[in-house]
Amino acid sequence: MFTRRVRFSVTCNAFCNGEIRLKMKKIDIHCHVLPKLDDGSASLQESIRMLKLAYRQGIQAVVATPHDSHQFRQEDPEKIRNLCRRLETRARAEVNPDFRVYPGEEIFYSQETLEKLKRNQLLTIGESRYILIEFMPNVPYSLLYRAVRELTEEQYRPILAHMERYGVLREKGRVEELIKAGAYMQMNYRRIGGRWYDETVRWCRKMLKNQKVHFLATDMHNTKSRRPQTQEAEAWMEKHLERTYIEEIAWKNQEKILRDAQPDAEMDILHN
Ligand SMILES: [Fe+2]
Repeated sequence: MFTRRVRFSVTCNAFCNGEIRLKMKKIDIHCHVLPKLDDGSASLQESIRMLKLAYRQGIQAVVATPHDSHQFRQEDPEKIRNLCRRLETRARAEVNPDFRVYPGEEIFYSQETLEKLKRNQLLTIGESRYILIEFMPNVPYSLLYRAVRELTEEQYRPILAHMERYGVLREKGRVEELIKAGAYMQMNYRRIGGRWYDETVRWCRKMLKNQKVHFLATDMHNTKSRRPQTQEAEAWMEKHLERTYIEEIAWKNQEKILRDAQPDAEMDILHN
């Protein structure tokens, strides 16, 4: 278990660390920065380049979430923890002395997920009770709902990765129903900053205005096609959302998760 106390510096909107101008503070709980584990970073050098890009956008800590799926099986949680420690050491030397890298996984839900969690064969987010889960984009709603119930009944707190990807959630009332069942919603920054006429962008913005999102994340995979992209989203949010809500979904809720792993934690994220 990670027992180090979580410490983050205050939001930095001024010129910090030489010429780097940080944007709003962020903690990224969904990214593929560990080298050679999945379709994310291809090398430690690329991982550092990804973290440098992320840091320039205000990201001060990440939870590395390699895919655990049919295509990319993560057999050894300790290997992920070790890679996180290694990457964090490099990031502290080359990105920022306070940069943090926590272990996690993006778990493709299956009938075996719960058992594997109980056997500690899968990693939660930063060793907390929160888990990042994904499904096929065309998942039936009944399966989504059943999975959330199954996991919450065992005291896990499922966070639905990139909620914008699931067609069944576009139907009125379903996001609310899943939240009521105990799910948390994660949205990718990239989908918020797209063109206004894009149906998904519009849906994402509506969800944000209705405060149905608990976490924003980059889901970055590399430094090119799937690099961290938060600026456009941030510009839109600053115009249309309350500052307190933006802070909650950009870093405050994420901090609560990471505190959840602490023995003295009493921090629960409030459901909307
Ligand atoms: Fe992902």
